[in-house]
Amino acid sequence: MSELQDLIEAAKATPKSSAILRAVVRACADAVDPESAADFFAATDPAPHEEVTRATVAKFLLDHQRAEAALAWCQTDEGPVTLLRARAQLALGRLADARESYKLAQAEGLSMDELDDALLERDAATSTGTVIQLRQFQRGGKTEAKPADAQADSRPRVTFADIGGLEDIKAQIRRKIILPFEKKSLFDRFRKRAGGGVLLYGPPGCGKTLLARATAAECNAKFFPVEIAEVLSMWLGESEKRLAHAFEQARAQKPSVLFFDEIEALAARRRFSEGDHKASMVSTFLNEFDGFSATNDGVLVLAATNVPWAVDPAFRRNGRFDRSLFVPPPDRVARKAILDIELKDRPQHGDIDSAAIAERTSGYSGADLANIVETACDLAIEESIDNDRIAPITAKHMTAALKEVKPTTLEWLAQARNYAKFANEGGLYDDVVAFLDKFTR
Ligand SMILES: Nc1ncnc2c1ncn2[C@@H]1O[C@H](COP(=O)(O)OP(=O)(O)OP(=O)(O)O)[C@@H](O)[C@H]1O
Ligand SMILES: [Mg+2]
Repeated sequence: MSELQDLIEAAKATPKSSAILRAVVRACADAVDPESAADFFAATDPAPHEEVTRATVAKFLLDHQRAEAALAWCQTDEGPVTLLRARAQLALGRLADARESYKLAQAEGLSMDELDDALLERDAATSTGTVIQLRQFQRGGKTEAKPADAQADSRPRVTFADIGGLEDIKAQIRRKIILPFEKKSLFDRFRKRAGGGVLLYGPPGCGKTLLARATAAECNAKFFPVEIAEVLSMWLGESEKRLAHAFEQARAQKPSVLFFDEIEALAARRRFSEGDHKASMVSTFLNEFDGFSATNDGVLVLAATNVPWAVDPAFRRNGRFDRSLFVPPPDRVARKAILDIELKDRPQHGDIDSAAIAERTSGYSGADLANIVETACDLAIEESIDNDRIAPITAKHMTAALKEVKPTTLEWLAQARNYAKFANEGGLYDDVVAFLDKFTR
């Protein structure tokens, strides 16, 4: 008997074991007759199993064109399950039900192009569409001053040496971005395309903007940041000009890095944007980009976002942002470096052990860590006022601050996990999955 058959028998003998049920799904990947498993699932009671298992089985059944059976496995209202239910209902032609389920999924921030196309168009006609907030993830703490666009950045250069930890992502940037950029002719020889842009994505406040600037420095290139929100706020016609001008400037002063921060403001999918007034901006951008990537010698186009699922896949087509890099929350070394940078030049007692705090702050973003130091600083100031003399920041202040500031990357990671599982378009979130595997171990 095959391994799959063995597992199915085992699952029949222990109808309450979710682990065996999921093992059945996994075994189907290399089984010759996954249909037998589909039959088994269709005849099995979903009740004893929890959400993840139900979702796994439902997805398997959907992938094997067994929508009716899949539906039985997604009768509860947990986020991912509602998305699968919408797919099953759509496959069965039950549009109204599918739309209801999809709305629940959207309320959890989940979405899928297939469902958008099938369900939302009609919604728009009856104007009952759900508008999802675009920037779901605002990071706390200070925001840095933004330089004017289409001008080379004149701030002090940040290099990889200034960025603590994150060795993994630095190595990836060297291999996937800097090397092809510097050795273009070599890549051409091997007919390996080095063109196209790179999308940096990850939770807010974790160094995307910082890494983009440092990448420019590492390439010895001028840095041209484009503030999309500002460009969008201009008059019709004016924004297009400004955008085209940015491309021109970067071309004229190569080697250069053209950086579009918070690209989702421009590249939002239909369901994430408030209207179509941006259409002409988008087409200007894509035209420039397409014409540009044909002759992009010496210009690197980078973009960053913390809502990658809001970015229209049209922006990720070949020759556009066809490579993406996940910028994870800071690792222990990075957390210590960030804490040290934030503490530098502030009155402090020698008893602060930033390494120990770094150890305890897994899941905190760079902005969260800055927030901890700010909060500790406020406490020291209060104490100074009370005592009428400077009271330096102490370990006690840091501990108190740590209790107050909560990590903000966990919510993002949970949402990214759902996207990776249920809407991993072209493997966009593979890096997130690899990170989560290590992170949760
Ligand atoms: N590895 C690091 N080393 C030193 N500082 C860091 C590191 N990571 C983040 N920071 C600091 O944390 C703060 C947030 O970083 P940054 O603005 O680059 O985040 P972001 O990913 O672009 O966030 P958002 O998605 O909100 O735009 C900055 O002050 C940055 O200097
Ligand atoms: Mg940023």
